[in-house]
Amino acid sequence: MASNSPIGFFDSGVGGTSIWREVVHRLPHENTIYLADSKNAPYGEKDTQTILDLSIKNTEVLLEKGCKLIVVACNTATTNAIDKLREIYAIPFIGIEPAIKPAALGTKSGAVGILATKGTLSSSLFARTSSVFASNIKVIETMGTGLVELIEAGKTNSMETRMLLEKLIAPMIERKIDQLVLGCTHYPYLIPILKELLPPSVTIIDSGGAVARQTENILKSRKILGESQNARHTLYSNLDIEVLAQLTSDAAKNLRVEFLEF
Ligand code: DGL
Repeated sequence: MASNSPIGFFDSGVGGTSIWREVVHRLPHENTIYLADSKNAPYGEKDTQTILDLSIKNTEVLLEKGCKLIVVACNTATTNAIDKLREIYAIPFIGIEPAIKPAALGTKSGAVGILATKGTLSSSLFARTSSVFASNIKVIETMGTGLVELIEAGKTNSMETRMLLEKLIAPMIERKIDQLVLGCTHYPYLIPILKELLPPSVTIIDSGGAVARQTENILKSRKILGESQNARHTLYSNLDIEVLAQLTSDAAKNLRVEFLEF
């Protein structure tokens, strides 16, 4: 049995489109709906209850639109809310967490950097994953305070962003990391600048590919893989559609970017 109902995505803003694009690329016959809750960004500075309330609000919108599966395209919402979402709703949820495991397996220097939001780094889910996979290595956790705001404002490639990133990663370079985990879905848009700033020995790790593979596995196992020959993608922002449109225009055909109050 196939299902051409859309896959739903939500994030605190435009960042989750870095995950959405990986899923769209891997699963070209799926219709998708993306919610950018930019009005409430950043989630990373909010408390767990507020992040859960916002995640429930976004889930309700996606369910109303008939989604068959939801990708929580936000590390902060996943690490703070996905367990509760799975308790409340029967629909399958795929989450995203900082990829500590491949970093811990891949490091030769024994030092790994993790760039993520305050909300992710302080979550109990992150603490658990970290203690399982990274107890024998040095983990340098850094809050990317300010980065989400710059990306939301369309300043991804600005000098301001470059200078902030340089300051944030300097202590990690000093401590000889050879793996940098991007623990926020906004950050893959910073990879071009990061590649210029980091020594070539540092591998940058993000979780987009893993989420796309996991999405495919779940759709297959539940027999709800899409078969649309002309898949459609609708991306909604509750703030400003311009940055969302800019970041996604090259990713797929049949793409609409619209304003929605939610
Ligand atoms: N994209 C979100 C994440 O992956 C950003 C969090 C925020 O809004 O602070 O964590």
